[in-house]
Amino acid sequence: MTEQTTSTENSVDQQHFDTLIADDSRIEPRDWMPEAYRKTLTRQVSQHAHSEIIGMQPEANWITRAPSLKRKAILMAKVQDEAGHGLYLYSAAETLGTPREVLNQQLLSGKAKYSSIFNYPARTWADMGAIGWLVDGAAICNQVPLCRASYGPYGRAMVRICKEESFHQRQGWEILYELSHGSEEQKQMAQDAVNRTYGPALQMFGPPDADSPNSQQSMEWNIKRFSNDELRQRFVDMIVPQAEALGLTLPDADLKWNEERGHYDYGQLDWDEFMSVIKGSGPCNVQRMQRRRKAHHDGAWVREAAEAYAKRQMQAAAQAAESATDSPEVSIVAGRASAELIGA
Ligand SMILES: [Fe+2]
Ligand SMILES: [Fe+2]
Repeated sequence: MTEQTTSTENSVDQQHFDTLIADDSRIEPRDWMPEAYRKTLTRQVSQHAHSEIIGMQPEANWITRAPSLKRKAILMAKVQDEAGHGLYLYSAAETLGTPREVLNQQLLSGKAKYSSIFNYPARTWADMGAIGWLVDGAAICNQVPLCRASYGPYGRAMVRICKEESFHQRQGWEILYELSHGSEEQKQMAQDAVNRTYGPALQMFGPPDADSPNSQQSMEWNIKRFSNDELRQRFVDMIVPQAEALGLTLPDADLKWNEERGHYDYGQLDWDEFMSVIKGSGPCNVQRMQRRRKAHHDGAWVREAAEAYAKRQMQAAAQAAESATDSPEVSIVAGRASAELIGA
């Protein structure tokens, strides 16, 4: 193939991609895509998957200490949902061409990032409420527009994830409601958890727009639909009336309704702290990564067993195909046997 043919083909591919984006249509794994689009999405989707998996830790820490059997069952279901979110998202990321072992390795080596909110400790039971209400709440604001992301597997994964995040937010709000309508100590515990979670939850939307140079390109590719500050504002507008209904306050002296803008104004966030947590100096960064590495190590036997099983299946299928060429009668029996093997 000459160089000229290749570049003509590339420009045809690029045009097709541009048309799909301009039509607000979807890019599927089979479609050609610019390398920068593939790279951006691989990074975003895998970081999202890592956040779901690491995000299980602060809450899993409270499963054994949940105050009742009902609370324990709800919390376990929630933590399991997060594991599921991680798995859908790793699958979506893999369709972009990077194998899961590589994605895993990027997390375990510390090369890949995850959401910095999960580097804060969950100190009391009320943190289960504050995490559900504020952290899952911020995740919903961020993720509902991602259901329309231009990359098909990512957008489709987000639909189910968002439904489950809504349940997570509701259960967190309900924990805080019970506590804030309980004893004085319980109300204080709820308020303290909200005080600690509010700032980091607002930072989940990422740095201010002026400091987020990649956002513009993601918006042009229809991956991101709203800017970091737009989403943050939407979240603040949503939680202020919810905090009033809870009977709790948000720890922000500058929070007030702005009649002219039709939105709540809010105060400066501590971006120095945000950067220091991202760089590894948060209260739990080291512990979170140690636990993840241990879990990966302890789970090696599951991966080995799955690999051995897949190998056996492939051998059985190959044998069946070989017999099929020898005798048509045998091939039916072998086909049946291999269908049974895969549970068909
Ligand atoms: Fe999740
Ligand atoms: Fe969640």
